[in-house]
Amino acid sequence: MASLRLAVEIAFVLLAAATNAALLTDPSQLPANKVYDYVVVGTGPGGGVIASRLSEDPNTNVLVIEAGPSDQGVTSLQIPLLAPQLQPNQAFDWNFTTVPQKNLDNRTLQYPRGRVLGGSSGINFMVYTRGPQDDFDRYASVSGDDGWSWNSTLPYWNKIERLVPPRDGHNTNGEIAPAIHSTSGALNISVQNAPFAQDPLVIETTQELPTEFPFNEDMNSGYPLGIGWMQGTYGNGMRSSASTAYIEPVLSRPNLDVLVETTVTKLIQTGEASGTPLFRGVQFASSATSPKYALNVTREVILSAGAVNTPQLLMLSGLGPSKTLSSLNMKTIVDLPDVGQHLTDHPFLRTLFGLVNPDDDILESLARNATFANDVLNEWASERQGVLTDSTGNQVGWLRIPDDDSIWKTEQDPSSGPTAPHFEFLFVPGFVSETETAPTTGSFFTLLTVLVSPSSGGSVTIASADPFAKPVIDPNFLDTTFDVYAIRAAVRSAARFAAAGAWNGFLTGQAGPFANVDVGSDEDVDAWARAQSWTIWHPVATARMGTCAQTVGNGAVVNLDATVKGVQGLRVVDASILPYIPAAHPQAVIYAFAERVADLIKSGQSIC
Ligand SMILES: Cc1cc2nc3c(=O)[nH]c(=O)nc-3n(C[C@H](O)[C@H](O)[C@H](O)COP(=O)(O)OP(=O)(O)OC[C@H]3O[C@@H](n4cnc5c(N)ncnc54)[C@H](O)[C@@H]3O)c2cc1C
Ligand SMILES: *[C@@H]1O[C@H](CO)[C@@H](O)[C@H](O)[C@H]1NC(C)=O
Ligand SMILES: *[C@@H]1O[C@H](CO)[C@@H](O)[C@H](O)[C@H]1NC(C)=O
Ligand SMILES: *[C@@H]1O[C@H](CO)[C@@H](O)[C@H](O)[C@H]1NC(C)=O
Ligand SMILES: *[C@@H]1O[C@H](CO)[C@@H](O)[C@H](O)[C@H]1NC(C)=O
Ligand SMILES: *[C@@H]1O[C@H](CO)[C@@H](O)[C@H](O)[C@H]1NC(C)=O
Ligand SMILES: *[C@@H]1O[C@H](CO)[C@@H](O)[C@H](O)[C@H]1NC(C)=O
Repeated sequence: MASLRLAVEIAFVLLAAATNAALLTDPSQLPANKVYDYVVVGTGPGGGVIASRLSEDPNTNVLVIEAGPSDQGVTSLQIPLLAPQLQPNQAFDWNFTTVPQKNLDNRTLQYPRGRVLGGSSGINFMVYTRGPQDDFDRYASVSGDDGWSWNSTLPYWNKIERLVPPRDGHNTNGEIAPAIHSTSGALNISVQNAPFAQDPLVIETTQELPTEFPFNEDMNSGYPLGIGWMQGTYGNGMRSSASTAYIEPVLSRPNLDVLVETTVTKLIQTGEASGTPLFRGVQFASSATSPKYALNVTREVILSAGAVNTPQLLMLSGLGPSKTLSSLNMKTIVDLPDVGQHLTDHPFLRTLFGLVNPDDDILESLARNATFANDVLNEWASERQGVLTDSTGNQVGWLRIPDDDSIWKTEQDPSSGPTAPHFEFLFVPGFVSETETAPTTGSFFTLLTVLVSPSSGGSVTIASADPFAKPVIDPNFLDTTFDVYAIRAAVRSAARFAAAGAWNGFLTGQAGPFANVDVGSDEDVDAWARAQSWTIWHPVATARMGTCAQTVGNGAVVNLDATVKGVQGLRVVDASILPYIPAAHPQAVIYAFAERVADLIKSGQSIC
């Protein structure tokens, strides 16, 4: 969705972050002689939760180190509908790219990751989805710990969610089941804050074609299949992130120090404990050319740098595949061959349709019509109302390839079970493209199809011992027969959705570069998929969780309590540890994993 640009410059968007005494911006500001119990590296949904929960105990000193700057006072991060402007290659992005994707015409994709307090939750699209029951039950089975099952993790949603009314105050009956949500957790969630013209038609289609597209009142029940209203991590017309929900509210705790604009360059071995290396030290610096600092903690280092930077930092610290490390003349402290392996991500593909009424294309109106852009900005600034309080869509759909489909004669089902979807629909009021600039004429509705149960996997690795060099990222999209088939099935399903009678008089038919794709032709759809598939930014599993008994080299990097195998004093708590990719937008799952690991740490028990 790189194409959205506002027709007006917003002077207040790039205001410098407000200064806050509890935020340190340079390592030299660290209090001398303060002894920390924990250091948390990174502040996304993983690190943000851990830092907040561990510092609830006033006797526990916690230091957080975040590479990016503070998000405080940065309006572009607060306005939900500005999300498409925050990447790629924008101020709060790591600006990564993938290696050429062999199944996508050798294209190199931009691979955004948030680099700001709050991590990727500070720049993401705010879709809030817990995922299917079977995903969690599979986490329980592969970790050997029933504590990760759907039923066992349910109480954590109460700590995470704070259901708030939408900004326009509309009646949400039938759009969400409030009984399954909490109103006292950390993260604001709500259904849409302002209607899009397309909204009633999405719902009407579920009434017209209920067999293929059943309506689902609340897809966060553990049974997501169907189409329903999206829940977003926003409240009061503003983005809610790991920073705004977990860190900023507790910044005044004297036992919590948050050091931003500082990159951790290495985890340091500080000794041995019962024969295994002890990792209680970190090295860090403001930039590649500034002095390096180091400190040791009394209890643990929590690595929460995300699915790309976490495996990079482990490797930089001698914890990774010895083959890779020796090829770079780096010392291996523990040979962990699975570090950086199993990278899994969701590719998305766009299907574009024309609109009868150009006003229904909100993204183009924002980009082309300065009057409109000014009006809605003023509406947001003065009342926190209007379309800018929404993300880029108000509904989501989760669909499965039918059980009697011919694909199952030859392919295994990669999904976690019957509650899990294979693909997803998102409905965007505008032209979506990651591969071209938006056209200056025409008006569009984009139905995004996302492959949410892929069987392809790739890797993250390093090509240099320099901590400021970019990691090598290969999501290896569409590498299996199943994935190619499923994305094709998704495009055809999307075409059937848009052909429903409900859309008569609203859509004009396939449009833009999608106009000439014959959805009935395998060749056409497969060529479209190779030419257009893009990441929807959900990398996971690069430091996968396994059982305590699983030895190093058997597919897992961390134990069921997130402790790193083969070392002591170190845990990983972020998207890297998910054993499989959620058939959902992953942030909710990562918040839940982090809440439970925080409990496990606080319990003080040694589990493995
Ligand atoms: C553009 C975009 C849109 C998305 N949309 C959605 C969505 O709508 N819904 C959803 O559920 N998910 C979405 N996601 C995914 C979701 O945001 C991530 O899965 C989630 O934020 C991952 O959490 P994390 O804690 O693993 O890592 P991150 O949130 O990425 O946080 C990692 C943090 O560590 C910091 N860090 C990294 N290396 C270092 C270092 N060496 N030293 C210090 N700090 C470091 C980073 O700067 C970052 O702040 C989106 C992601 C992106 C990028
Ligand atoms: C990413 O690119 C933007 C735009 O050039 C820049 O402002 C930002 O600092 C870059 N991020 C990093 C980590 O270099
Ligand atoms: C992709 O690159 C590889 C290696 O350079 C080459 O063999 C292959 O033909 C290329 N494929 C396409 C579709 O260009
Ligand atoms: C989860 O709890 C529900 C309600 O108590 C129960 O019906 C269901 O069998 C449980 N699921 C599993 C997998 O134990
Ligand atoms: C959450 O939403 C509530 C009510 O809409 C608002 O008062 C509060 O400021 C929001 N909190 C955050 C952290 O955004
Ligand atoms: C951290 O601990 C190691 C091992 O005891 C020691 O060599 C090192 O000097 C310590 N670092 C700091 C910054 O105290
Ligand atoms: C631009 O937006 C304004 C305000 O919403 C509207 O009145 C006007 O018709 C729009 N102009 C065009 C050309 O669509």
